[in-house]
Amino acid sequence: MINAAIVGMGTWGQNLVKSVQGVSPHIQFVAGATRTPAKATDFAARHKIRMTDSYEALLEDPAIDAVVLATPHSMHTTQIVAAAQAGKHVFCEKPLGLDSASARRAAEAAALNKVVLGVGYNWRFQPALQEIRRMIDDGRLGKVLHIEGNFCGPSAYRFPNGHWRHAGDESPAGGMTGRGVHVLDAMMYLAGPIDQVTAQSYRLAQDFGSDDTTSMLLHFAGGSTGYLGTVIATAETWRMQVFGSNGWVQVGDVEHLSTWDLLVCMIDRDNVTNKQKPVRTSFAPVSTERAELEHFAACIVNHHALVTPDGDAVRNAEVLEAIVRSSSSHTTVKID
Ligand SMILES: NC(=O)c1ccc[n+]([C@@H]2O[C@H](COP(=O)([O-])OP(=O)(O)OC[C@H]3O[C@@H](n4cnc5c(N)ncnc54)[C@H](OP(=O)(O)O)[C@@H]3O)[C@@H](O)[C@H]2O)c1
Repeated sequence: MINAAIVGMGTWGQNLVKSVQGVSPHIQFVAGATRTPAKATDFAARHKIRMTDSYEALLEDPAIDAVVLATPHSMHTTQIVAAAQAGKHVFCEKPLGLDSASARRAAEAAALNKVVLGVGYNWRFQPALQEIRRMIDDGRLGKVLHIEGNFCGPSAYRFPNGHWRHAGDESPAGGMTGRGVHVLDAMMYLAGPIDQVTAQSYRLAQDFGSDDTTSMLLHFAGGSTGYLGTVIATAETWRMQVFGSNGWVQVGDVEHLSTWDLLVCMIDRDNVTNKQKPVRTSFAPVSTERAELEHFAACIVNHHALVTPDGDAVRNAEVLEAIVRSSSSHTTVKID
C-alpha cells in the first residue's frame, strides 16, 4: 500500500482521492495540503485525510511515500522538483510543464533523485484506446495514415473572469492545457512523436480570458498526419478517429471519463468499392483515474520509471510549446 498525500484539493484533486480511497489495495491518501484548507475540511474528514499546514510539511513527513499534485499548471515544475529533492515519489496532473525546459527539468529531477514521476494522462487507460493500440501493433489497422481529434466543452464559461484557468501563463493556446494535451498524448501513444505543428488560436466568444478556439495541423516523425481542435466555448464533446491503410476506428463521446465504445470500419479488400458499415464494440467501464494511480503505485513498488527526460510526457510539453509559438508567430514550427 502506497501512502500518498493530495496537494491541491479542488475539483480534480478531490476526484483523484475518491477514485481510490477505501477501494484500492495499492494506494491510499493519508494526508493533504491545499491553498485554502477551509474549503476542503469536510472532504478531508469524510475521507480520513489529515490536513497539513503546507506542502513543505508534507515533504518532511516520513509517513508519506508519494505526493499527488492537482494544482494550477504553473506550479507543477517547482512542486515536482521539490518533491524529488525530498525523496518523495510524485504524480502530477497534466501538463507536466508549460514548456519543454520545465518538463525536462522535472523529469531530470525525478531521475537524479531516483523517485518515480507519473503524469495524469489517464486516457491511456481507456480500454477503447488500448484496443486501437493493439490493432496497430498486430497489423489489423494497417499503417497509421492520419488522426483527427477534438476535445471541446464550455470551460471558458465555467471559469469566471480572474480565475487561474483564464490566465495566459496558466492556459496558453486556449483549451490546450485543459483539454487538448489529452488528445495529443493519445495521438502520440498511437502514432509516435510529433515533429511539426501549424497552429491557430483565437478568443472569439468572450471579451476576457483565454483563447477559446484553437486548432492545428500535425505531422508525426513516422510520417502520419493529424489535426486537432479544442473549442472551449461550446457544448461538451470529444472524438478521435484514426485512419489506417486497412480501415478506420473512432472513439469519443460527450463525457471523456465514460467512453467505452469503439467504432471499427475496415476495407473489404475483395471489393474496395463495397461501402462497409462500422461495427460498434463496447468495453466494460473502468475508472481511468484509479487505473493511473494504481499503475503509479505499482511502478513505485517495482522500481520502474514512468516519466523520463526523453519520454512522451516531456515530448508533449515540447509540442505544447511549439503550438504556442506557432499560433503566436503564424508560422509552422518544427520540433527536433
Ligand atoms: N486528467 C483530467 O482529466 C483532469 C481534469 C481536470 C483537471 N485536471 C488537472 O488537475 C489540476 C487541477 O485542476 P482543477 O480543475 O482541480 O483546479 P481547481 O479546482 O482550481 O483546484 C486547484 C487547487 O489548487 C489550489 N491552489 C494552490 N495554489 C493555487 C493558486 N496559486 N491559484 C489557484 N489555486 C491554487 C486551489 O486552492 P483553493 O482551494 O484556494 O482554490 C485548489 O485546491 C490541473 O493540472 C488540471 O489540468 C485534470
